[in-house]
Amino acid sequence: MRGESAPEPENGFDASLSLGDFVVGERADALSPPAGWTEWRQSAAWEAQLYQPAMLQSADARTTIEYDGKPQPVINLCSYNYLGLANHPKVIEAAHGALGKYGMGACGSPMLSGMTDLHRKLERALADFLGREDAMLFNSGFGGAMGTIAGLLRKSDVAIMDNRSHLSLRDGAVLSRSRVDRFEHNDPASLDEALSRRQGKRNLVIVEGIYSMDGDFATLDSLLDVVEAHDASVFIDEAHSMLACGSNGRGAAEHYDVEHRIPLVYGTFSKAFGAAGGFVTGARETIEYLRFYAHSYVYSCALPPVVVAAILKALELAQRDPGARQRLWENAEYFRSQANSLGIDTGASNTYIMPLIVGERGRMYRIGHELRRRGLWVAPVDYPAVPEDRICFRACVTANHTRADLDEALNILEDTLVPDLLQKA
Ligand SMILES: Cc1ncc(COP(=O)(O)O)c(C=O)c1O
Repeated sequence: MRGESAPEPENGFDASLSLGDFVVGERADALSPPAGWTEWRQSAAWEAQLYQPAMLQSADARTTIEYDGKPQPVINLCSYNYLGLANHPKVIEAAHGALGKYGMGACGSPMLSGMTDLHRKLERALADFLGREDAMLFNSGFGGAMGTIAGLLRKSDVAIMDNRSHLSLRDGAVLSRSRVDRFEHNDPASLDEALSRRQGKRNLVIVEGIYSMDGDFATLDSLLDVVEAHDASVFIDEAHSMLACGSNGRGAAEHYDVEHRIPLVYGTFSKAFGAAGGFVTGARETIEYLRFYAHSYVYSCALPPVVVAAILKALELAQRDPGARQRLWENAEYFRSQANSLGIDTGASNTYIMPLIVGERGRMYRIGHELRRRGLWVAPVDYPAVPEDRICFRACVTANHTRADLDEALNILEDTLVPDLLQKA
């Protein structure tokens, strides 16, 4: 079986340009984007169609999105709904209950008027779950990571980041005006070099539990050996790993049995929790300080109580039912091994997030349209989010995918991506 071949774009889109080419190029008016941007965007309308599609239902394993102006049923390998909690009936029931009691918004910063008993309950529940003294909540995963890093670091400090770090962490370091150094992804020797260069400084090593583009775990054990040898501090962002990794769901640190070596843990509610927002948890003294110095906490409205109630229920369900985590991991292993046996390169992925590497922009968009038409929803990942030779689709497997969903997705890939890869070889 072969899919319909996709039409070539007819619009004169210049594939040699990318988002990276329009970061600078000031015009006289600060409201005007760099020269050529608008024309390039207009010429890329066909490529842009793959981005920001409207979902017409919940982010379940199968959903419906808008494509080409019409509803398109798809197998969803795009959403971060790893444990299926975004649309769990008990989560929805909890949210309904809170909506009736608290109304929609928190209507104020947590510092002044936005804190409710639900927020307090969630802070306590998270701190207890992760065996920490205290926790605080943010209304955005991105804002929370940025605010925490910016709140911790000073101008004379050094942020030493894995070179695949999420932009929220990098923006936090830039905002703090500290020096920002990078080490090669997951490479203890490179981290050792970076720390050796900055001896005598307050160094904060910043890592993630799972890297969101490559889908690989941080090599925590060996990186922490280096951190400790240099007496540096460490910060982990467990955005993609929290609740879905470790036998109790306590993230990559639990998975590698290194929780006791990491005093401050960041997580988001937008992935396995199926909601939105973020949190940081650790020593009471650190958290109490951040409550006053993380600007995205102090100067921003608290999470809506309806969302907090949903997160509380999601946390309870994930703790009570390890079955969903088990299904997630079985699905991930199955999908990755089957994709690999078709000849698809999934890079360094060893989790439920996997790149399906195409390596060339034009081909990625052509196949991307074909996949949408055939009913498979994967995320297009273009440069500069990844290096040009690693332009890919990103697939996220969840606990709610059935074997039939995964087999159908693999069939579609076999009909579309695989012949193209063979042609390239
Ligand atoms: C490592 C990491 N940190 C922070 C964030 C931001 O989280 P949110 O999407 O909840 O704002 C993301 C988002 O994907 C992420 O991958």
